[in-house]
Amino acid sequence: MTEPGALGPALPLLACPHCGAALAGVDPGTVGCPQGHRFDLARQGYLPLLGGRSRTDTGDDAAMVAARAEFLGGGHYAAIAEAVRDAVRRDRTPERPGAVLEIGAGTAYYLAHTEPQVGIALDSSRYAARRAAKAHPRVASVLADAWAPLPIRSRAIDTLLVIFAPRDVAELARVLRPGGIAVVVTPEPGHLAEIRGPLGMLDIDAGKAASVAVGWRPGFELVAATAVTAQLRLSPADLRALVAMGPTARHRSAEQIAAAVAALPEPTVVTMSVTVSRLRRNAEHLGPA
Ligand SMILES: C[S@@+](CC[C@H](N)C(=O)[O-])C[C@H]1O[C@@H](n2cnc3c(N)ncnc32)[C@H](O)[C@@H]1O
Repeated sequence: MTEPGALGPALPLLACPHCGAALAGVDPGTVGCPQGHRFDLARQGYLPLLGGRSRTDTGDDAAMVAARAEFLGGGHYAAIAEAVRDAVRRDRTPERPGAVLEIGAGTAYYLAHTEPQVGIALDSSRYAARRAAKAHPRVASVLADAWAPLPIRSRAIDTLLVIFAPRDVAELARVLRPGGIAVVVTPEPGHLAEIRGPLGMLDIDAGKAASVAVGWRPGFELVAATAVTAQLRLSPADLRALVAMGPTARHRSAEQIAAAVAALPEPTVVTMSVTVSRLRRNAEHLGPA
């Protein structure tokens, strides 16, 4: 479960999803705002912060989250985790040890790798939130919808992580402090190219770093873009987990996925190709506080 020590330091960064006011502990296991809105820590250790406009049905289901944990646990995307950690640490100073928020965090694999001083994993899947609650002793897990107003105080966050995840750029600009950094991971057109056709994987929304920079203007400016590539040697079990953790799993049964995987060589060599972009919160385009 979310360690008692993880929610405490994160609490001043969180906001009531109904009224945006500050949250504080009111009872053991319950937090609330001065307006009387109350939120109970789930038995599995995450804090649900759902407002009237929040949806949870877009989040990954139990099987997708289990597959993600299995695939990432195999270390196949370790190079991405290292690049993300390097991008986060570049800006860390003793004065600003860093509050790191990961949007659409899934199992919080990448956030945990950054070893944040204060970490918040936000996801709309209860199954992901349960896993994220166990990811790292300094990571608090919050169940919330990235497409609704974020339950995060304005300008409270030093570093944002957005890794293959949904993003509402205006909300991200609101919660990131001026000068803060967003680390964004996007797939390149060659990412998993060898298996997309054979395994019936949905086309990815491949976006080059340049289009990330455009999409995030005017609140953010691109500081650096780093290509991270590797040739992965994947077993049939790895391939089944890789397909099952993504959107294709919503359209194909486990039997269909297994049959398609069985037709591939063992191991199958697959290209991993992503860009890790660092964008700085532009102080000249601050929205309302
Ligand atoms: C492709 S996964 C990426 C997870 C993680 N960043 C990683 O790379 O391992 C996308 C994640 O976004 C979450 N998600 C989908 N819609 C969401 C929403 N509206 N709000 C918050 N999270 C959402 C899913 O539950 C899932 O965990």
